[in-house]
Amino acid sequence: MEIRKVGVLGCGLMGSGIVEVAAIAGFEVVVREVDEALLDAGRARVRASLDRAVAKGKLAAADRDAATARIGFTMDLAALADRDLVIEAVVEDLDTKRELFKALDGLCARHTLLATNTSSLTVVEIAAATQRPDRVLGLHFFNPVPVMKLVEVVRTLATSEETFATGMAFARALGKEPVATKDTSGFVVNLLLVPYLLDAIRAAERGVASIPDIDRGMVLGCDHPMGPLTLCDFVGNDTLCRIAEILYAEYRESRYAPPPLLKRLVAMGRLGRKAGRGFYDYSADPPVALSL
Ligand code: CAA
Repeated sequence: MEIRKVGVLGCGLMGSGIVEVAAIAGFEVVVREVDEALLDAGRARVRASLDRAVAKGKLAAADRDAATARIGFTMDLAALADRDLVIEAVVEDLDTKRELFKALDGLCARHTLLATNTSSLTVVEIAAATQRPDRVLGLHFFNPVPVMKLVEVVRTLATSEETFATGMAFARALGKEPVATKDTSGFVVNLLLVPYLLDAIRAAERGVASIPDIDRGMVLGCDHPMGPLTLCDFVGNDTLCRIAEILYAEYRESRYAPPPLLKRLVAMGRLGRKAGRGFYDYSADPPVALSL
């Protein structure tokens, strides 16, 4: 099946990245947000990222303008009705996603494929809210979307072969490298990454080393691009906590349980880079580790 028209639900960190890479790859994109303020913020994020790509010499100004012209911004869910593929990238909450998928199922053309960017829920639970579970799949992108090469393409028990093959081809058309995964919570990356991040928080909690030294250990010792506590701040401590709760509820294994320190940071609003404070204070340059 050929994908030309793409819809994106949510223009936050992940949604705006998906909009950007799809528009650059030549797809006609419509992105929907729930209110004017979020839509404006999403538009500004896409614009800033495209400008940054031009400033870095990665994208010609004319290609930025062509990509921008391919993006439509809307608050109307019905504007996604004629899409070949809709990718949902809203908050990690099953009920919210199920409601949206049910609404999309009623609105969208019969041929429309519905994809979720969920990072920890099982796709089939979302697909079950529709009458087209054979045309529902997971397309899990990584942050920052313009940089990270991976897309996990998730096939549920109900996903048809054609839907799955189309998802794989779409990821490649974006210039990404797809990895096929089963529909198990966390797929490949978060199944392995989340316990690692939680262990780093437990190490900080126990005072094994200072925050910068835990990070330096993994950057210098394993050549990771950023240390685990910096990565927690980058992903968002609230998002990480939510993912951990979902994985823990699914597997009942202690390694997925959010450590108390993570919950305390979230309660204090130390959500990470987006809040200006998490394990580090981002008002300083370079960021300074905060006390725990
Ligand atoms: N948009 C576009 N390009 C970006 C970018 C963004 N938001 N952030 C960084 N870049 C580009 C820069 O332009 C730069 O490109 P050049 O080398 O061509 O100049 C390159 O990426 C490196 O950036 P910087 O030099 O500014 O900074 P850096 O070297 O520290 O890299 C990073 C930043 C790419 C984020 C890197 O630190 C990294 O890869 N970190 C790990 C990210 C990661 O693990 N992501 C997965 C998170 S888990 C997830 O997303 C899934 C989930 O479900 C939770």
